[in-house]
Amino acid sequence: SAAEKDGYEYFMLKEIAEQPRAIADTLRGRFDTSGGIILDEVRMSDQDFRDVDKVFIVACGSSYHAGMVAKYAIEHWVRLPCEVELASEFRYRDPVLDRSTLVIVISQSGETMDTLMALRHARNQKARVLAISNTVGATIPRESDAVLYTRAGIEVAVASTKAFLTQLAACYLVGLHLAAVRGIKYADEVAAVVAELAGTPEKISQVLEAMEPVRELARRMGTADRALFIGRHVGFPVAMEGALKLKELAYMHAEGFAAGELKHGPISLIEAGTPVVVVVPSPRGRSLLHDKVVSNIQEVKARGAAVIAIAEEGDDVVAPHVDHVVFTPRVPTLLAPLLTAVPLQVFACELAAAKGLDIDQPRNLAKSVTVE
Ligand code: G6P
Repeated sequence: SAAEKDGYEYFMLKEIAEQPRAIADTLRGRFDTSGGIILDEVRMSDQDFRDVDKVFIVACGSSYHAGMVAKYAIEHWVRLPCEVELASEFRYRDPVLDRSTLVIVISQSGETMDTLMALRHARNQKARVLAISNTVGATIPRESDAVLYTRAGIEVAVASTKAFLTQLAACYLVGLHLAAVRGIKYADEVAAVVAELAGTPEKISQVLEAMEPVRELARRMGTADRALFIGRHVGFPVAMEGALKLKELAYMHAEGFAAGELKHGPISLIEAGTPVVVVVPSPRGRSLLHDKVVSNIQEVKARGAAVIAIAEEGDDVVAPHVDHVVFTPRVPTLLAPLLTAVPLQVFACELAAAKGLDIDQPRNLAKSVTVE
């Protein structure tokens, strides 16, 4: 009903707007006095966490993209090897698992059959499973050895927004938990992240307040039949998620690529006017990645692309090279997806609305896929 939508035209708009609150709720009260994270359910000991020598992250759809971001954080902070895998592929390729393997399954619904089957396979092989889920008491958290619940609240729109963002927050918390329990919690960078995380809801609000130009751009792009999304480092999964949103909502052919792969194929897709959305890494610390992405932008521009950049506030290098730039507030690189994903959600939602499509219930898709 209209009342449930709180005055918004679609649930998706409401859920996009709820993201600062959802992140704040997901972070609230999570830290214990020693800097560790309080998980919601733990059926494994700290020693089990210390014994971990390898991490797999397994999920589907947007949850898989959250897992891709988690890999960058966990490997960097915790120094544990970490693989990310699509749940539908995981058990069929005979992954190497034992009791010192930690499998992190991410599922908003907690009922996705592919993810549940991957979980069961992992547990049969004696691996420990930690679930990140938005649904208290769902099958996936019930069958796992430890659980961290996201507190997005009920997500109605099929295309995930606030659940995805809270999955990112939960992934950071799991990374911090692993770092704490394994005794590296006092590393300066990890400690700084805890403080920065607390400030992200406010920064997401700032991003949301500045979305009118993105909406206007999306309305003008309604006639495009495809779009490319590129990014590097944690901007790569954000590009994948931006492309997925556009496929789900606007039925457009959209692909997310690692920007470095452009030259190995995707650049041949660029024609005059092809929209290319670029998630630009922070230029701080004279980042080499930033320079490389600026060259990628020049390469696609030279072939006629219409470039929309998502860049960090204060990045004055990128603006002259692109057609449109959307700035997001400064935050540590690993946390940037909490901000950079938001304009891509708004973009896809508005573009689909401009085409008159069903935002909350796109054709052929289901909120929770309970068949393999
Ligand atoms: C479906 C939904 C997606 C979701 C995916 C995984 O495809 O439409 O939005 O990302 O399932 O769902 P889960 O509940 O396991 O996170």
